[in-house]
Amino acid sequence: MSAQTAALKGRKIVLGVTGSIAAYKACALCRLLIKAGAEVQVVMTEGAAKLVAPHTFMALSGHPVATDIFKDADKIGHIALSRGADLAVVAPATANTIAKLRNGMADNMLTAGLLAAQCPVVIAPAMNVNMYRNPATQENLQVLSGRGFYIMKPGEGDLACGVRAEGRMPEPEEIVSFIIGILQGGAAPERIGYDPREALPSPQAPLEIGQTRLLPGASGAGLKVVITAGPTVEALDPVRFLTNRSSGKMGFALAEAARARGAKVTLISGPVALPSPAGITRVDVRSALEMLQAVENSLDGCDVFIGCAAVADYRADHIASEKISKRDHGDELTIKFVRNPDIVATVGKLEHGRPFTVGFAAETENGEAHAKAKLASKNLDLIAMNYVKGGDQGFQSDCNELFVYDRDGLEAHLPLQSKQVLAGELADLIFTKYRNAKKD
Ligand code: PMT
Repeated sequence: MSAQTAALKGRKIVLGVTGSIAAYKACALCRLLIKAGAEVQVVMTEGAAKLVAPHTFMALSGHPVATDIFKDADKIGHIALSRGADLAVVAPATANTIAKLRNGMADNMLTAGLLAAQCPVVIAPAMNVNMYRNPATQENLQVLSGRGFYIMKPGEGDLACGVRAEGRMPEPEEIVSFIIGILQGGAAPERIGYDPREALPSPQAPLEIGQTRLLPGASGAGLKVVITAGPTVEALDPVRFLTNRSSGKMGFALAEAARARGAKVTLISGPVALPSPAGITRVDVRSALEMLQAVENSLDGCDVFIGCAAVADYRADHIASEKISKRDHGDELTIKFVRNPDIVATVGKLEHGRPFTVGFAAETENGEAHAKAKLASKNLDLIAMNYVKGGDQGFQSDCNELFVYDRDGLEAHLPLQSKQVLAGELADLIFTKYRNAKKD
Protein backbone atom coordinates (compact mmCIF):
# COMPACT_ATOMS: atom_id res chain seq x y z
CA MET A 1 0.00 0.00 0.00
CA SER A 2 1.49 3.37 -1.01
CA ALA A 3 1.57 6.32 1.35
CA GLN A 4 -1.17 7.83 -0.77
CA THR A 5 -3.58 4.89 -0.75
CA ALA A 6 -3.10 4.62 3.04
CA ALA A 7 -5.71 7.40 3.21
CA LEU A 8 -8.30 4.77 2.27
CA LYS A 9 -7.47 2.30 5.01
CA GLY A 10 -10.51 1.60 7.17
CA ARG A 11 -12.64 4.15 5.29
CA LYS A 12 -16.22 3.28 4.51
CA ILE A 13 -16.93 3.96 0.85
CA VAL A 14 -20.32 3.56 -0.82
CA LEU A 15 -19.87 2.62 -4.48
CA GLY A 16 -22.94 3.35 -6.59
CA VAL A 17 -23.00 1.60 -9.96
CA THR A 18 -25.53 2.68 -12.58
CA GLY A 19 -26.62 1.28 -15.94
CA SER A 20 -23.82 2.33 -18.25
CA ILE A 21 -21.76 -0.08 -20.30
CA ALA A 22 -18.83 1.17 -18.20
CA ALA A 23 -20.32 -0.68 -15.21
CA TYR A 24 -17.69 -3.38 -15.74
CA LYS A 25 -14.98 -0.81 -14.94
CA ALA A 26 -16.57 -0.35 -11.53
CA CYS A 27 -15.34 -3.87 -10.70
CA ALA A 28 -11.75 -2.67 -11.08
CA LEU A 29 -12.55 0.40 -9.00
CA CYS A 30 -14.06 -1.78 -6.27
CA ARG A 31 -10.93 -3.97 -6.25
CA LEU A 32 -8.58 -1.00 -6.02
CA LEU A 33 -10.54 0.44 -3.09
CA ILE A 34 -10.60 -2.90 -1.27
CA LYS A 35 -6.88 -3.40 -1.95
CA ALA A 36 -6.19 -0.03 -0.33
CA GLY A 37 -7.98 -1.17 2.81
CA ALA A 38 -11.37 0.51 2.32
CA GLU A 39 -14.63 -1.13 3.30
CA VAL A 40 -16.82 -0.95 0.22
CA GLN A 41 -20.60 -1.15 0.15
CA VAL A 42 -21.84 -1.54 -3.40
CA VAL A 43 -25.29 -0.41 -4.47
CA MET A 44 -26.50 -1.01 -8.01
CA THR A 45 -29.39 0.34 -10.05
CA GLU A 46 -31.62 -2.10 -11.92
CA GLY A 47 -29.88 -1.14 -15.17
CA ALA A 48 -26.43 -1.81 -13.74
CA ALA A 49 -27.53 -5.23 -12.47
CA LYS A 50 -28.45 -6.17 -16.06
CA LEU A 51 -24.91 -5.37 -17.22
CA VAL A 52 -22.83 -6.86 -14.38
CA ALA A 53 -24.10 -9.54 -12.01
CA PRO A 54 -24.47 -8.24 -8.44
CA HIS A 55 -22.71 -11.45 -7.33
CA THR A 56 -19.51 -10.19 -8.95
CA PHE A 57 -19.52 -7.12 -6.67
CA MET A 58 -20.55 -9.25 -3.72
CA ALA A 59 -17.50 -11.45 -4.27
CA LEU A 60 -15.23 -8.43 -4.71
CA SER A 61 -16.50 -6.40 -1.75
CA GLY A 62 -17.38 -9.24 0.61
CA HIS A 63 -20.74 -7.58 1.36
CA PRO A 64 -24.25 -8.15 0.07
CA VAL A 65 -25.04 -5.84 -2.81
CA ALA A 66 -28.12 -3.64 -2.60
CA THR A 67 -30.19 -3.39 -5.77
CA ASP A 68 -33.86 -3.28 -4.79
CA ILE A 69 -35.16 -0.73 -2.31
CA PHE A 70 -37.95 -3.07 -1.16
CA LYS A 71 -36.45 -6.55 -1.56
CA ASP A 72 -33.09 -5.70 0.00
CA ALA A 73 -34.47 -3.62 2.87
CA ASP A 74 -33.83 -6.42 5.37
CA LYS A 75 -30.17 -6.68 4.28
CA ILE A 76 -29.36 -2.97 3.92
CA GLY A 77 -31.83 -0.14 4.55
CA HIS A 78 -31.51 2.75 2.10
CA ILE A 79 -30.99 5.24 4.95
CA ALA A 80 -28.42 3.00 6.63
CA LEU A 81 -26.59 2.70 3.34
CA SER A 82 -24.59 5.88 3.64
CA ARG A 83 -24.76 6.25 7.44
CA GLY A 84 -21.22 6.50 8.74
CA ALA A 85 -19.84 6.50 5.20
CA ASP A 86 -16.72 8.56 4.63
CA LEU A 87 -17.54 9.07 0.99
CA ALA A 88 -19.91 7.89 -1.74
CA VAL A 89 -18.88 7.56 -5.35
CA VAL A 90 -21.21 6.97 -8.28
CA ALA A 91 -19.14 5.34 -11.01
CA PRO A 92 -20.30 5.09 -13.69
CA ALA A 93 -22.97 7.78 -13.30
CA THR A 94 -25.48 7.81 -16.15
CA ALA A 95 -27.29 10.92 -17.39
CA ASN A 96 -30.48 9.43 -15.94
CA THR A 97 -29.11 9.01 -12.42
CA ILE A 98 -27.49 12.46 -12.57
CA ALA A 99 -30.87 13.97 -13.50
CA LYS A 100 -32.55 12.11 -10.64
CA LEU A 101 -29.96 13.29 -8.13
CA ARG A 102 -30.34 16.90 -9.30
CA ASN A 103 -34.09 16.60 -8.72
CA GLY A 104 -33.78 14.96 -5.33
CA MET A 105 -35.51 11.77 -6.48
CA ALA A 106 -35.43 8.68 -4.31
CA ASP A 107 -36.88 6.00 -6.57
CA ASN A 108 -34.24 3.32 -6.11
CA MET A 109 -31.77 2.14 -3.51
CA LEU A 110 -28.96 4.37 -4.82
CA THR A 111 -30.87 7.64 -5.25
CA ALA A 112 -32.68 7.18 -1.93
CA GLY A 113 -29.40 6.41 -0.14
CA LEU A 114 -27.66 9.43 -1.65
CA LEU A 115 -30.53 11.75 -0.80
CA ALA A 116 -29.94 10.85 2.84
CA ALA A 117 -26.14 10.93 2.55
CA GLN A 118 -24.18 13.31 4.82
CA CYS A 119 -20.78 12.52 3.29
CA PRO A 120 -19.00 13.92 0.23
CA VAL A 121 -20.40 12.46 -2.99
CA VAL A 122 -18.29 11.98 -6.13
CA ILE A 123 -19.94 11.69 -9.53
CA ALA A 124 -17.98 10.01 -12.33
CA PRO A 125 -20.13 10.53 -15.44
CA ALA A 126 -20.16 8.00 -18.28
CA MET A 127 -22.42 8.39 -21.28
CA ASN A 128 -22.70 9.13 -24.97
CA VAL A 129 -20.99 12.41 -25.90
CA ASN A 130 -24.20 14.09 -27.05
CA MET A 131 -25.97 13.09 -23.87
CA TYR A 132 -23.05 14.54 -21.91
CA ARG A 133 -23.00 17.76 -23.92
CA ASN A 134 -26.77 18.18 -23.78
CA PRO A 135 -27.57 21.40 -21.89
CA ALA A 136 -29.91 19.44 -19.60
CA THR A 137 -27.05 17.19 -18.43
CA GLN A 138 -24.63 20.11 -18.19
CA GLU A 139 -27.10 22.09 -16.12
CA ASN A 140 -27.79 19.08 -13.89
CA LEU A 141 -24.06 18.65 -13.24
CA GLN A 142 -23.64 22.33 -12.59
CA VAL A 143 -26.48 22.37 -10.06
CA LEU A 144 -25.06 19.31 -8.30
CA SER A 145 -21.64 20.97 -8.25
CA GLY A 146 -23.26 24.00 -6.63
CA ARG A 147 -24.69 21.73 -3.94
CA GLY A 148 -21.24 20.47 -3.06
CA PHE A 149 -21.10 17.27 -5.12
CA TYR A 150 -17.66 16.52 -6.55
CA ILE A 151 -18.02 16.15 -10.30
CA MET A 152 -15.28 14.41 -12.28
CA LYS A 153 -14.65 15.20 -15.91
CA PRO A 154 -15.29 12.17 -18.11
CA GLY A 155 -12.40 10.90 -20.16
CA GLU A 156 -12.03 11.17 -23.90
CA GLY A 157 -11.72 8.12 -26.12
CA ASP A 158 -13.68 5.46 -27.99
CA LEU A 159 -17.24 5.36 -26.77
CA ALA A 160 -19.54 2.35 -26.94
CA CYS A 161 -21.62 4.20 -29.54
CA GLY A 162 -18.70 4.10 -31.99
CA VAL A 163 -17.44 7.69 -31.82
CA ARG A 164 -14.26 9.08 -30.30
CA ALA A 165 -15.13 11.90 -27.90
CA GLU A 166 -15.55 12.70 -24.23
CA GLY A 167 -18.00 10.69 -22.18
CA ARG A 168 -15.89 7.75 -21.01
CA MET A 169 -15.94 6.95 -17.32
CA PRO A 170 -12.68 8.22 -15.78
CA GLU A 171 -10.23 5.38 -15.24
CA PRO A 172 -10.56 3.55 -11.88
CA GLU A 173 -7.04 4.70 -10.87
CA GLU A 174 -8.00 8.34 -11.54
CA ILE A 175 -11.15 7.94 -9.46
CA VAL A 176 -9.14 6.47 -6.59
CA SER A 177 -6.71 9.40 -6.57
CA PHE A 178 -9.59 11.85 -6.81
CA ILE A 179 -11.22 10.20 -3.76
CA ILE A 180 -7.93 10.24 -1.85
CA GLY A 181 -7.61 13.96 -2.60
CA ILE A 182 -10.99 14.57 -1.01
CA LEU A 183 -10.37 12.32 1.99
CA GLN A 184 -7.08 14.05 2.64
CA GLY A 185 -8.92 17.34 2.96
CA GLY A 186 -6.19 19.81 2.15
CA ALA A 187 -5.40 17.94 -1.01
CA ALA A 188 -8.99 18.16 -2.25
CA PRO A 189 -9.08 18.42 -6.01
CA GLU A 190 -8.61 21.89 -7.35
CA ARG A 191 -11.67 23.54 -8.72
CA ILE A 192 -11.51 23.24 -12.50
CA GLY A 193 -11.83 26.74 -13.87
CA TYR A 194 -14.52 27.25 -16.47
CA ASP A 195 -16.23 30.23 -17.93
CA PRO A 196 -19.74 30.22 -16.52
CA ARG A 197 -20.88 32.52 -19.28
CA GLU A 198 -21.08 29.29 -21.22
CA ALA A 199 -23.38 27.86 -18.58
CA LEU A 200 -25.70 26.49 -21.22
CA PRO A 201 -23.14 25.72 -23.88
CA SER A 202 -23.66 25.02 -27.51
CA PRO A 203 -23.17 21.32 -28.27
CA GLN A 204 -19.71 22.17 -29.64
CA ALA A 205 -18.59 23.80 -26.40
CA PRO A 206 -19.34 21.59 -23.44
CA LEU A 207 -18.76 22.97 -19.98
CA GLU A 208 -15.86 21.89 -17.92
CA ILE A 209 -17.47 21.03 -14.67
CA GLY A 210 -15.75 22.16 -11.49
CA GLN A 211 -15.93 20.92 -7.97
CA THR A 212 -16.82 23.00 -4.99
CA ARG A 213 -15.07 22.56 -1.68
CA LEU A 214 -17.18 21.02 1.00
CA LEU A 215 -16.95 23.02 4.19
CA PRO A 216 -18.32 20.71 6.86
CA GLY A 217 -18.07 23.48 9.48
CA ALA A 218 -20.21 25.76 7.36
CA SER A 219 -23.26 23.55 7.37
CA GLY A 220 -26.67 25.15 7.69
CA ALA A 221 -28.01 22.16 9.64
CA GLY A 222 -30.38 23.24 12.39
CA LEU A 223 -30.68 26.81 11.13
CA LYS A 224 -33.87 28.58 10.14
CA VAL A 225 -33.18 30.81 7.16
CA VAL A 226 -35.58 33.36 5.66
CA ILE A 227 -34.80 34.66 2.17
CA THR A 228 -36.55 37.28 0.04
CA ALA A 229 -36.32 37.01 -3.74
CA GLY A 230 -37.64 38.45 -6.97
CA PRO A 231 -39.17 41.85 -7.61
CA THR A 232 -42.04 43.57 -5.88
CA VAL A 233 -44.95 44.81 -7.95
CA GLU A 234 -46.53 48.10 -6.97
CA ALA A 235 -50.01 48.62 -8.40
CA LEU A 236 -51.01 51.95 -9.93
CA ASP A 237 -54.53 51.01 -10.93
CA PRO A 238 -56.36 47.70 -11.64
CA VAL A 239 -54.27 47.08 -14.79
CA ARG A 240 -50.96 48.90 -14.36
CA PHE A 241 -48.04 48.49 -12.02
CA LEU A 242 -44.44 49.49 -11.33
CA THR A 243 -41.83 46.74 -11.02
CA ASN A 244 -38.23 45.87 -11.95
CA ARG A 245 -36.23 43.27 -13.85
CA SER A 246 -35.54 40.82 -11.03
CA SER A 247 -36.18 37.23 -12.15
CA GLY A 248 -35.75 35.65 -8.71
CA LYS A 249 -32.90 33.40 -9.96
CA MET A 250 -30.33 34.63 -7.42
CA GLY A 251 -32.68 34.36 -4.43
CA PHE A 252 -34.05 30.97 -5.49
CA ALA A 253 -30.51 29.63 -5.98
CA LEU A 254 -29.66 30.83 -2.48
CA ALA A 255 -32.74 29.13 -1.05
CA GLU A 256 -31.73 25.89 -2.75
CA ALA A 257 -28.12 26.20 -1.58
CA ALA A 258 -29.16 26.89 2.03
CA ARG A 259 -31.56 23.96 2.00
CA ALA A 260 -28.92 21.69 0.50
CA ARG A 261 -26.71 22.63 3.47
CA GLY A 262 -29.34 21.42 5.87
CA ALA A 263 -31.14 24.67 6.69
CA LYS A 264 -34.90 25.03 7.06
CA VAL A 265 -35.70 27.66 4.46
CA THR A 266 -38.61 30.05 4.01
CA LEU A 267 -38.49 31.79 0.65
CA ILE A 268 -40.61 34.91 0.32
CA SER A 269 -40.88 35.80 -3.32
CA GLY A 270 -42.37 38.49 -5.49
CA PRO A 271 -43.97 37.39 -8.77
CA VAL A 272 -41.48 35.24 -10.74
CA ALA A 273 -41.73 32.41 -13.24
CA LEU A 274 -39.62 29.91 -11.27
CA PRO A 275 -40.65 26.58 -9.75
CA SER A 276 -40.19 26.19 -6.00
CA PRO A 277 -36.93 24.51 -5.00
CA ALA A 278 -37.69 21.16 -3.34
CA GLY A 279 -38.01 21.10 0.42
CA ILE A 280 -38.50 24.80 1.13
CA THR A 281 -41.51 26.79 2.34
CA ARG A 282 -42.45 29.37 -0.27
CA VAL A 283 -44.61 32.41 0.38
CA ASP A 284 -45.73 34.38 -2.68
CA VAL A 285 -46.32 38.11 -2.36
CA ARG A 286 -46.70 41.05 -4.73
CA SER A 287 -46.01 44.41 -3.11
CA ALA A 288 -43.30 45.62 -0.72
CA LEU A 289 -45.89 45.98 2.03
CA GLU A 290 -47.00 42.37 1.51
CA MET A 291 -43.37 41.25 1.52
CA LEU A 292 -42.68 43.05 4.78
CA GLN A 293 -45.75 41.45 6.35
CA ALA A 294 -44.67 37.98 5.17
CA VAL A 295 -41.14 38.56 6.50
CA GLU A 296 -42.46 39.66 9.89
CA ASN A 297 -44.68 36.56 10.01
CA SER A 298 -41.65 34.32 9.35
CA LEU A 299 -39.11 35.81 11.74
CA ASP A 300 -39.96 33.75 14.79
CA GLY A 301 -36.87 31.60 15.50
CA CYS A 302 -35.10 32.87 12.38
CA ASP A 303 -31.30 32.52 12.59
CA VAL A 304 -30.31 34.03 9.26
CA PHE A 305 -32.21 36.54 7.12
CA ILE A 306 -31.10 37.24 3.54
CA GLY A 307 -32.69 40.14 1.64
CA CYS A 308 -32.10 39.32 -2.01
CA ALA A 309 -35.37 40.75 -3.34
CA ALA A 310 -35.36 43.86 -5.48
CA VAL A 311 -37.89 45.72 -3.39
CA ALA A 312 -39.45 48.84 -4.89
CA ASP A 313 -38.30 51.87 -2.93
CA TYR A 314 -41.55 53.70 -3.71
CA ARG A 315 -45.22 52.85 -4.20
CA ALA A 316 -48.11 54.95 -5.47
CA ASP A 317 -49.58 57.05 -2.69
CA HIS A 318 -53.00 56.07 -3.93
CA ILE A 319 -53.96 53.03 -6.05
CA ALA A 320 -56.70 54.17 -8.43
CA SER A 321 -59.76 51.96 -8.11
CA GLU A 322 -60.59 52.44 -11.79
CA LYS A 323 -58.26 52.37 -14.79
CA ILE A 324 -56.39 55.67 -15.04
CA SER A 325 -57.71 57.24 -18.25
CA LYS A 326 -56.06 59.76 -20.58
CA ARG A 327 -59.52 61.31 -20.89
CA ASP A 328 -59.05 62.62 -17.35
CA HIS A 329 -55.36 63.53 -17.59
CA GLY A 330 -54.67 64.77 -21.09
CA ASP A 331 -50.96 65.09 -22.02
CA GLU A 332 -49.53 64.88 -18.53
CA LEU A 333 -50.04 62.49 -15.68
CA THR A 334 -48.61 63.02 -12.24
CA ILE A 335 -48.56 60.17 -9.77
CA LYS A 336 -47.40 60.79 -6.25
CA PHE A 337 -45.10 58.10 -4.88
CA VAL A 338 -44.33 57.49 -1.23
CA ARG A 339 -41.42 55.57 0.32
CA ASN A 340 -41.86 51.88 0.99
CA PRO A 341 -40.56 50.52 4.28
CA ASP A 342 -37.05 49.11 4.03
CA ILE A 343 -37.47 45.39 4.77
CA VAL A 344 -33.86 44.37 5.33
CA ALA A 345 -33.25 47.46 7.48
CA THR A 346 -36.36 46.65 9.54
CA VAL A 347 -34.88 43.20 10.25
CA GLY A 348 -31.33 44.51 10.76
CA LYS A 349 -32.54 47.00 13.35
CA LEU A 350 -34.72 44.63 15.37
CA GLU A 351 -34.07 45.05 19.07
CA HIS A 352 -35.27 41.56 20.02
CA GLY A 353 -34.74 38.33 18.13
CA ARG A 354 -32.57 39.96 15.47
CA PRO A 355 -31.28 37.27 13.07
CA PHE A 356 -27.87 37.40 11.39
CA THR A 357 -28.86 39.81 8.62
CA VAL A 358 -27.49 39.78 5.08
CA GLY A 359 -28.42 42.30 2.41
CA PHE A 360 -27.67 42.68 -1.26
CA ALA A 361 -26.64 45.87 -3.02
CA ALA A 362 -27.51 46.30 -6.69
CA GLU A 363 -25.22 48.99 -8.05
CA THR A 364 -24.32 50.56 -11.36
CA GLU A 365 -21.33 52.60 -10.11
CA ASN A 366 -19.15 53.04 -6.97
CA GLY A 367 -20.25 49.62 -5.81
CA GLU A 368 -17.92 49.38 -2.83
CA ALA A 369 -18.80 52.78 -1.35
CA HIS A 370 -22.54 52.32 -1.85
CA ALA A 371 -22.51 48.78 -0.48
CA LYS A 372 -20.59 49.82 2.62
CA ALA A 373 -22.99 52.73 3.19
CA LYS A 374 -25.99 50.35 2.94
CA LEU A 375 -24.31 47.84 5.26
CA ALA A 376 -23.95 50.54 7.91
CA SER A 377 -27.27 52.40 7.46
CA LYS A 378 -29.33 49.19 7.42
CA ASN A 379 -27.32 47.65 10.29
CA LEU A 380 -26.39 44.51 8.35
CA ASP A 381 -23.85 41.81 9.19
CA LEU A 382 -22.91 41.20 5.57
CA ILE A 383 -23.76 42.72 2.22
CA ALA A 384 -23.31 41.10 -1.20
CA MET A 385 -22.78 43.72 -3.89
CA ASN A 386 -23.43 43.00 -7.55
CA TYR A 387 -23.21 45.26 -10.56
CA VAL A 388 -26.49 45.51 -12.46
CA LYS A 389 -25.51 47.30 -15.60
CA GLY A 390 -26.70 44.39 -17.75
CA GLY A 391 -24.55 41.97 -19.71
CA ASP A 392 -23.92 38.58 -18.19
CA GLN A 393 -24.54 39.37 -14.54
CA GLY A 394 -27.08 40.92 -12.20
CA PHE A 395 -30.76 40.97 -13.12
CA GLN A 396 -32.14 38.00 -15.10
CA SER A 397 -28.76 36.60 -16.08
CA ASP A 398 -27.85 32.98 -15.25
CA CYS A 399 -24.49 34.17 -13.90
CA ASN A 400 -23.38 36.72 -11.36
CA GLU A 401 -20.34 38.10 -9.56
CA LEU A 402 -20.43 39.20 -5.93
CA PHE A 403 -18.28 41.35 -3.66
CA VAL A 404 -19.16 40.55 -0.08
CA TYR A 405 -18.43 43.13 2.64
CA ASP A 406 -18.69 43.07 6.39
CA ARG A 407 -17.96 45.82 8.91
CA ASP A 408 -14.22 45.25 8.45
CA GLY A 409 -14.24 45.59 4.67
CA LEU A 410 -14.10 43.12 1.79
CA GLU A 411 -14.82 39.64 3.06
CA ALA A 412 -14.83 37.79 -0.26
CA HIS A 413 -14.87 38.28 -3.97
CA LEU A 414 -16.92 35.51 -5.57
CA PRO A 415 -16.04 35.59 -9.26
CA LEU A 416 -18.43 35.51 -12.18
CA GLN A 417 -20.06 32.09 -12.29
CA SER A 418 -23.47 30.47 -12.43
CA LYS A 419 -25.91 31.70 -9.81
CA GLN A 420 -26.22 28.15 -8.49
CA VAL A 421 -22.51 27.74 -7.84
CA LEU A 422 -22.24 31.29 -6.54
CA ALA A 423 -25.17 30.74 -4.18
CA GLY A 424 -23.44 27.67 -2.74
CA GLU A 425 -20.28 29.66 -2.04
CA LEU A 426 -22.23 32.55 -0.54
CA ALA A 427 -24.26 30.17 1.65
CA ASP A 428 -21.04 28.59 2.94
CA LEU A 429 -19.64 32.03 3.71
CA ILE A 430 -22.82 33.20 5.45
CA PHE A 431 -23.11 30.08 7.62
CA THR A 432 -19.43 30.25 8.55
CA LYS A 433 -19.72 33.94 9.50
CA TYR A 434 -22.95 33.26 11.39
CA ARG A 435 -21.35 30.46 13.42
CA ASN A 436 -18.24 32.54 14.11
CA ALA A 437 -20.42 35.45 15.26
CA LYS A 438 -22.26 33.08 17.62
CA LYS A 439 -18.94 31.99 19.16
CA ASP A 440 -17.90 35.58 20.00
O1 PMT B 1 -33.48 38.14 -9.34
P1 PMT B 1 -32.34 38.09 -10.32
O2 PMT B 1 -32.78 38.39 -11.73
O3 PMT B 1 -31.56 36.82 -10.21
O4 PMT B 1 -31.33 39.28 -9.95
C1 PMT B 1 -30.66 39.25 -8.73
C2 PMT B 1 -30.58 40.64 -8.11
C3 PMT B 1 -29.74 41.55 -8.99
C4 PMT B 1 -31.99 41.25 -7.95
C5 PMT B 1 -29.94 40.45 -6.68
O5 PMT B 1 -28.67 39.88 -6.81
C6 PMT B 1 -29.85 41.77 -5.94
O6 PMT B 1 -28.96 42.57 -6.11
N1 PMT B 1 -30.84 42.01 -5.06
C7 PMT B 1 -31.00 43.29 -4.32
C8 PMT B 1 -31.69 44.28 -5.21
C9 PMT B 1 -31.89 45.62 -4.54
O7 PMT B 1 -33.01 46.01 -4.34
O8 PMT B 1 -30.78 46.23 -4.17
P2 PMT B 1 -30.73 47.70 -3.44
O9 PMT B 1 -29.30 48.07 -3.49
O10 PMT B 1 -31.72 48.61 -4.04
O11 PMT B 1 -31.19 47.37 -1.96
C10 PMT B 1 -30.27 47.08 -0.92
C11 PMT B 1 -30.86 46.05 0.03
O12 PMT B 1 -32.03 46.59 0.63
C12 PMT B 1 -31.29 44.75 -0.62
O13 PMT B 1 -30.98 43.69 0.26
C13 PMT B 1 -32.80 44.89 -0.76
O14 PMT B 1 -33.46 43.63 -0.69
C14 PMT B 1 -33.12 45.72 0.47
N2 PMT B 1 -34.32 46.57 0.35
C15 PMT B 1 -34.37 47.61 -0.49
C16 PMT B 1 -35.48 48.44 -0.49
C17 PMT B 1 -36.55 48.16 0.39
N3 PMT B 1 -37.63 48.91 0.39
N4 PMT B 1 -36.47 47.10 1.20
C18 PMT B 1 -35.39 46.30 1.21
O15 PMT B 1 -35.33 45.33 1.97
